[in-house]
Amino acid sequence: MRRGNTVGLVGRILDWFCGVLASLTLLGGTFESPFCYHKCVGVCPLCRPVLDRYRSEQENTMSREVLLQLLGVWKTYRMGEVEVPAMKPTDLEVYRGEILVILGPSGSGKSTLLNIMGGIDQPSGGQLLYEGKNLTGVSDNALTAYRRHHVGFIFQFFDLISNLTVSENVALGAEIAGRRPAFGAILDGLGLGGKEESFPAQLSGGEQQRVAIARALAKEPDLLLCDEPTGSLDYRTGIRVLHLLHMVSREMGKTVVIITHNTPIGAMADRVITMRDGFIDCMVANEKPVDPSLISW
Ligand SMILES: Nc1ncnc2c1ncn2[C@@H]1O[C@H](COP(=O)(O)OP(=O)(O)O)[C@@H](O)[C@H]1O
Ligand SMILES: [Mg+2]
Repeated sequence: MRRGNTVGLVGRILDWFCGVLASLTLLGGTFESPFCYHKCVGVCPLCRPVLDRYRSEQENTMSREVLLQLLGVWKTYRMGEVEVPAMKPTDLEVYRGEILVILGPSGSGKSTLLNIMGGIDQPSGGQLLYEGKNLTGVSDNALTAYRRHHVGFIFQFFDLISNLTVSENVALGAEIAGRRPAFGAILDGLGLGGKEESFPAQLSGGEQQRVAIARALAKEPDLLLCDEPTGSLDYRTGIRVLHLLHMVSREMGKTVVIITHNTPIGAMADRVITMRDGFIDCMVANEKPVDPSLISW
């Protein structure tokens, strides 16, 4: 018997078996597992584990704390007479402590989305809520306070101040937010011990990116927004940076949003968003996010 025939026969037997169970069950066939192709209402031993997992995923989603919420947020840039639609009306919830990866081709609106999340850019419409508080239409001072106290940014080209040393760059990040964290511990934790008095130009690309991470963390933000953080780094250094971002989420409980061109980086995320033409084309939840050491590109 050909393999296709065998599979078909097994499917029919399963259908029959589950049909019998369905007719016996007190549920009366009112509930169907969305994953169960033989529609057994989730009572058979074959479908039970699938259904249980589906339910626990639903519960996990329900119990997650929403840190940031976008409600119908859209953005159009104006360049003289020309309007550039960068982001179409978008709904999104970002959960506390998660790693969210944003993929998508160049020009698809990734940075626009990230900049709106971080209060760098104002949306043209819709609402942005942080811990349930509406940030749309608030004063510039209120938006600056949000950026200063709650958001850390990491960019592709590090954006360090070239005439300040490593510790001065990091201190500046903290002072802006009125914090006094233990710089030594942060720098040591990021493998920068001994580099405190170096200037950015004396460091490698990977070290500069680690200083940028230290500067962002010195503010003790809840939300770390990273725009192509590995974009200008070689593979090995990029993986090290990903390890740090992973640690920031898993051990420090920060929410980490990472824009990247590298699709494999999505494997370390709790959720992956793919953007296209200014909207979220698809969103996937990773059941088992992997350790960055298992990522390659
Ligand atoms: N400041 C701006 N002024 C005008 N157009 C912009 C500006 N920023 C982004 N855009 C346009 O908005 C669209 C989305 O850009 P962006 O969010 O930077 O995409 P991505 O980060 O995915 O490459 C692009 O067409 C881009 O040219
Ligand atoms: Mg971009």
